[in-house]
Amino acid sequence: MPAVRDYPFQWFWDSCFHAIVWSRFDPRRAADELRGLLAVQEADGLVPHVVFWKDDLVSRLRWHHLESRTEGFVPFHRKPHTTAQMQPPVLAQAVERVVDAGAGDEFLAEALPAVERYYRYLAAFRDPDGDALVSIVSQFESGLDFSPAYDSAIGLRGSHPAELFARARLPQLLNKLANYDLHTIFRRYRHHLEDVLVNAVYGQGLRALARLAARTEQDAVVRWAERTADDVTAALLERCWDGRLRLFVNLAGPDARRARVKTIHGLVPLVLPDLPAETAAALAEHLDDPRTFGAPYPVPSVALDEPTFTRDHRIRGLRFIWRGPLSLNTNWFLVHGLRSHGYADLAERIAARSREVVDRGGFNEFYDPLSGRPVGAERFGWATLAVDL
Ligand code: GLC
Repeated sequence: MPAVRDYPFQWFWDSCFHAIVWSRFDPRRAADELRGLLAVQEADGLVPHVVFWKDDLVSRLRWHHLESRTEGFVPFHRKPHTTAQMQPPVLAQAVERVVDAGAGDEFLAEALPAVERYYRYLAAFRDPDGDALVSIVSQFESGLDFSPAYDSAIGLRGSHPAELFARARLPQLLNKLANYDLHTIFRRYRHHLEDVLVNAVYGQGLRALARLAARTEQDAVVRWAERTADDVTAALLERCWDGRLRLFVNLAGPDARRARVKTIHGLVPLVLPDLPAETAAALAEHLDDPRTFGAPYPVPSVALDEPTFTRDHRIRGLRFIWRGPLSLNTNWFLVHGLRSHGYADLAERIAARSREVVDRGGFNEFYDPLSGRPVGAERFGWATLAVDL
């Protein structure tokens, strides 16, 4: 569970992060964490984003049913066991770390076919325009729920919480009416998005899949994963790079409308080893710039000079996350990405600040980038990534 009180189920990318941290202390426990996810993989390869291990906590009135398929004819007749959504595909990276930590060849043999099926599902079912970038069908699939990166895509005009809530949830309502059938959703609606964070993590995951497959000499899988990863980087550079913002931006809908807002999504392609040096340099510049992402406590999820930036995640007292505060999982991606591109000092500055906020404020979901104060759910799992920076 990401947090016992606030998030009492198993979440996909949280579990991948938990496994990465567990791998440093207890590789068997780490492997079990991932087994919990692989156990619910669907026939087409999707690994759902939430597993409701405790169904007495599944509510009819909250998001649980909305984000899941309807089983049987009566919508609320039976409680879902999983959602029908994805999250950023950090699975191969987690499996690789757990195998390296000593979970052994047996775990590799057990996990690899499932991992391969998962990435093949993304390539086959999630790319309706065939440009190599995968599409998400709701902003909640990106893991960055209410980020202003999605505001223009959902047609947000004001800043009233009721409007933000309704417009963000509407695509999910339509998905539910299509019973989360991807063919129907892509054919019938226009709300899917090509998300930069999701695709950067996908490209990084494909490289990890290629390395895992190489260990068992599965050459065809290695070639497929490498080629697909090459295509992802090329497509991100060609389609999502904004030369004016000097950042990557999301694409919305079948006509690929560009977001014009500086959010943390735009920096995450630093995790791609084949990102050209000058592009990595532009992103590193942002991370050093006190006007945008070089906050006193980096890295804010929204650039400080964006009008939507908020230090906390409350709008008129209501919780809308990912509109400013920093989180340890995105810092983890960026610290490792910066190091791989030769920005060791900048990476260390972010890592040191990350450890500091955890030391002072405990393991928390979010921290205020101006004061370092914890502002999210307490005793939060992926904040333990502080030990892996
Ligand atoms: C929120 C976050 C998402 C995370 C989940 C559980 O929905 O936006 O990224 O996986 O909480 O921690």
